[in-house]
Amino acid sequence: MDALPRFPAGFRWGTATASYQIEGAVHADGRGTSIWDAFCVQPGRVKNGDTGETACDHYHRWPEDVALMAGLGTDAYRFSVAWPRVQPDGRGPANAKGLDFYERLVDALLEHGIAPFLTLYHWDLPQALEDLGGWTARDTAHRFADYTALVADRLGDRVAAWITLNEPFVHMTEGYGLGTHAPGRTMLLDALPAAHHLLLGHGLAVPVLRERVTGEVMLTNNCSPVWPAAGTPADRAAADAFDTLQNRLFNDPVLLGRYPDLSAYGVAELPFVRDGDLALISAPIDGLGVNYYSPTRVAAPAGAAPHEGPSVMGEVGDRLQGVGLPFEDTPIEGYPVTAFGWPVVPDALHELLTGLRARYGTALPPITITENGCSSHDEPGMSDDDRVAYLDGHLRALHRAITDGVDVRGYFVWSLLDNFEWAEGYSQRFGLVHVDFETQRRTPKASYHWFRTQLEAQR
Ligand code: FCB
Repeated sequence: MDALPRFPAGFRWGTATASYQIEGAVHADGRGTSIWDAFCVQPGRVKNGDTGETACDHYHRWPEDVALMAGLGTDAYRFSVAWPRVQPDGRGPANAKGLDFYERLVDALLEHGIAPFLTLYHWDLPQALEDLGGWTARDTAHRFADYTALVADRLGDRVAAWITLNEPFVHMTEGYGLGTHAPGRTMLLDALPAAHHLLLGHGLAVPVLRERVTGEVMLTNNCSPVWPAAGTPADRAAADAFDTLQNRLFNDPVLLGRYPDLSAYGVAELPFVRDGDLALISAPIDGLGVNYYSPTRVAAPAGAAPHEGPSVMGEVGDRLQGVGLPFEDTPIEGYPVTAFGWPVVPDALHELLTGLRARYGTALPPITITENGCSSHDEPGMSDDDRVAYLDGHLRALHRAITDGVDVRGYFVWSLLDNFEWAEGYSQRFGLVHVDFETQRRTPKASYHWFRTQLEAQR
C-alpha cells in the first residue's frame, strides 16, 4: 500500500487502551470492585461468560506492552486509570499501590519518548458508588472530582494530556439506558440525569486539573455522522433526533454551555440541572477527543414503543411515559463490514470532522482522534489486510479533513492489543497485536508492521 500523505509537524501518533479491557489483576494491591467486575459475573451479560479478571494481564506485563509501543514507533499512548485501584470504595484517601502502578507506567512511557494521554474514567466506576446510585446520583460527580485530585497530585507534572471522560454517551445509553453494559440499568430516557452528572463530573474535574497539571485537559466523545434512511421529512426528523442524542448531548453543553433541544424526546426541562452547572461544564478545554468507528443510519420509527418503569425525572419523566424513541436504527448497505458488522466508510470521518467544524465554528477546540480502528477475525500468522485497509482509508480521510482546515492534532489506533471488548468479551479483536488469552503471548499483526512503516515515513 502506498505511503500516507504527510501529516503536519508535531502530529501525535498513538495507540489507545482502557484499564478494564487490558489490566486484569482485579484483586491486586488493594483494588476495589468495579461495576464491570460485578456486571461480568451476572449470567448472560457478557458473551461466553467472559470477564476482565485476567484480560491481557497488562498489570503485570506492562513492560512488554511498552516495548511493543516503542517498537511500533508511536510517540503517544492513551490509557485509562481504574478508579477502584485509586479509591477502592470510590471515596477517601488514595490507595498508594494503585497510583504506584500508573506512575511506573507513565515513567516508562516517558523513558521511551511516548507522551502519556491519561483517561480518568473509561467506565469502571467503583461498585460502592454504584450502590449509592452511580451516575444517576449528583454526588458521584463530586466523588469524581476528588478522585481526579488524587491522580493529578501524583502525576500532574508528567502527563501530556488528561481526558476526563471516555464516551459518556455510550456509558449513559448502554450502561444506564439499555443495560447492555455495566451497571446494567434499563432506565431508557430516565437515564438523562446520568448524562448530566457525567458532564458535571467533567466540569468539576477541570478546575481541579488546572490547579495541578501541566498537560492539556480534554474530554472524549464518540461521534458519528447520522444519515436519514430516505430523504423523507420523517426520516430527516429521525436523523436529527438521533444526531441530537449522539453528537450534541455531550458536545453542546461543553462547547456551547447549553443543552440541545430535546423536544423530540418529549423533554422540555431538565430539573436536575442546577444554576452554575453549565458554567462549570463549559469551562474552556484544550482539545476535544473524538472517537470514530462508523456512520449511523436511522429511519422514522415504525411504531412508538411505550416507555415503562418508574421515573427518576419527576414530571419530565412522567411526560416521557408512552413516548417511544423518535428514531429506528437502520442498516447501512453497500460497504464492507468489520467482524463486529460495523460498516467501513472512511469518507464519513471527513464528513464528521468538517461537520463538527461547521456546527461549532470557533467554539471547537483542536481535535484529537482518540480512537479509531476495527475488529477482524484474526489468528496469529494471518494477515489482517482488512485492518490495514481500514486504517489506511481513515487516515487518508483524516488528512483530507486537515487539508480542508479542521485542526486535528493526533490519531490513536484502537487498540494496541486484542482485549476485553465489553459485552462482546474476547470475541472481537481490535489489536495491532494479537493476544493469545490462554498463554498471554503477544504477536504483532501485519497491521502493526504496516503502521510502523507508515510512522517511519512520517518522520
Ligand atoms: C469504544 C470504546 C472502547 C472500545 C471501542 C471498540 O466505544 O471506547 O473501549 O471498546 O469502542
